[in-house]
Amino acid sequence: MVKAPLSRGSWGARFFAVAWALVLLASLASSIARRSIGQERGAAGSGQLDPTAWGDDHVDEPLPEFVESGECLFCHRREVGSSWARNRHQRTIRDATPAEPALAALRKDRSAASLADEVELILGDRRANRFLKRSAQYGKLDMLSVVAHSRRGRRFRVRQVPDDDKPPRWLGVEHFAQNCAGCHATGVDPQTAAFALPSLDCFVCHGDSPLEHANDSREMILSRTRHDPPRVVISICAQCHLRGGRSKATGRPYPTNFVPGDNLFRDFVFDFSLADSPDVSPGDRHVIDNVRQVVLNGRQDMTCLSCHDVHRQDTRRHRKLKEERYCGHCHAPGKPLREPIRYEVHSPVCQY
Ligand code: HEC
Ligand code: HEC
Ligand code: HEC
Ligand code: HEC
Ligand code: HEC
Ligand code: HEC
Repeated sequence: MVKAPLSRGSWGARFFAVAWALVLLASLASSIARRSIGQERGAAGSGQLDPTAWGDDHVDEPLPEFVESGECLFCHRREVGSSWARNRHQRTIRDATPAEPALAALRKDRSAASLADEVELILGDRRANRFLKRSAQYGKLDMLSVVAHSRRGRRFRVRQVPDDDKPPRWLGVEHFAQNCAGCHATGVDPQTAAFALPSLDCFVCHGDSPLEHANDSREMILSRTRHDPPRVVISICAQCHLRGGRSKATGRPYPTNFVPGDNLFRDFVFDFSLADSPDVSPGDRHVIDNVRQVVLNGRQDMTCLSCHDVHRQDTRRHRKLKEERYCGHCHAPGKPLREPIRYEVHSPVCQY
């Protein structure tokens, strides 16, 4: 009697057979998925994923060839070119024009003014600026030992960097190369630490994607049609925005030869407990916490791009999200959302 409906060959029976097959397949798939996630769990049995367990790196390879922004913008002038000149990534290192307020402050500073004429480039934004000049060595810059600070948009003032009590001076070309280049310049050679381009170019986020992407945009990293997994997206942003980590390969405070698409954490070690540290500002804490959620807890539904539009430089997207504990980095519980916590940002890595 039990077999009857199945043997009758009716639509109902076929439906049952197909449904059963689907149920079996689904349970098989979920057990495979569980097992492969199980393999990624940390050995300590912490219940967290092992962030090094997937993907590839380019640590032992030469710097890849990549297409520069000039060529990209030939085709993408309209949507991206119009705002690129103002993008903070593009501007992190720029010509030291007389209009730069930090340069004016340097000229007025009694102990450092005599060096101002040699300054060719400025690094930084509203909070802190550094002064640089090109060196004879390819892909290297020399940096002044002083920093120009501004608090809450007030005038820049020149000061010594923390833990430096010697008179203002040029620090030599290895200082920027070993400590800063990987996050403020593009295409840093793993051996020499010389950069291919000063400041940040398309390559740092879009990688060495092929030009054939013009026919199929899924070939381009971070294209909307491609749907890169969260751990790939977050590795790209975290290569620079996780301040305080170290490269296993070189010991430098930035990753070695990271190419978008790679797993950052095969080379870059980072202490995620900083996400809970009161000494870290909400500006860095919300970054560290989001990366932790994705790479240690396997969170799938929130990356930097849920909130940030990189090319438009705004966070309008974030206002549409559902409230959760994470929001507490910037919105105090019980306070209206339109009154976010105000905070200052300091960074020992960036010396401001
Ligand atoms: C691990 C990557 C990393 C390294 C290494 C690094 N930086 Fe940064 N730096 C960043 C990021 C990311 C920001 C933007 C942070 C923000 O706005 O919240 C930044 C911002 C800055 C700013 C601008 C602050 C402002 O808002 O005006 C200065 C100045 C700076 N860095 C200097 C340096 C110097 C000097 C070094 C080397 C001694 C250095 N950084 C090394 C990632 C890095
Ligand atoms: C700091 C990282 C970063 C850099 C540098 C960067 N992009 Fe993007 N780009 C993104 C992200 C992230 C997206 C995906 C936007 C989204 O879905 O939110 C994107 C999207 C795009 C798009 C899709 C259209 C759009 O407006 O969203 C184009 C085209 C593009 N980028 C071109 C470029 C070019 C050309 C350069 C260099 C001049 C460049 N990008 C530099 C991160 C970057
Ligand atoms: C020969 C012209 C051409 C060049 C050069 C070019 N692109 Fe594209 N790109 C296209 C076309 C065409 C598309 C598909 C149509 C579209 O979505 O804009 C595209 C798509 C994209 C997308 C995906 C847009 C989306 O819808 O999400 C990104 C990101 C992108 N390009 C970035 C770059 C970057 C970065 C470079 C330089 C390394 C570059 N492109 C160079 C023509 C070009
Ligand atoms: C190669 C290093 C690098 C990469 C990769 C990178 N950033 Fe940045 N980002 C920086 C630096 C450095 C600054 C600050 C530059 C300055 O002001 O001098 C910055 C500034 C920013 C800012 C502040 C400016 C603004 O738009 O309000 C945001 C937000 C940001 N980055 C988000 C992202 C996201 C999201 C990604 C990943 C798609 C990303 N960044 C990838 C280095 C990087
Ligand atoms: C839930 C939303 C959300 C997520 C997720 C998120 N951010 Fe933010 N982020 C914001 C908002 C909102 C601001 C504040 C913008 C402001 O002050 O106007 C901000 C500020 C920043 C700034 C500081 C800009 C400055 O100099 O003032 C940087 C850099 C940044 N985010 C990078 C990232 C990166 C990288 C990630 C991913 C690892 C990320 N954020 C994830 C919402 C988010
Ligand atoms: C890095 C800091 C940061 C994080 C994290 C953050 N916010 Fe915000 N939020 C801000 C800032 C700054 C503003 C005011 C500027 C703006 O509207 O972007 C704001 C404004 C808002 C507004 C608009 C309020 C109004 O009426 O003007 C909403 C809604 C909001 N946030 C929701 C959220 C939610 C939900 C989350 C968590 C998923 C979150 N935010 C996470 C910084 C943050």
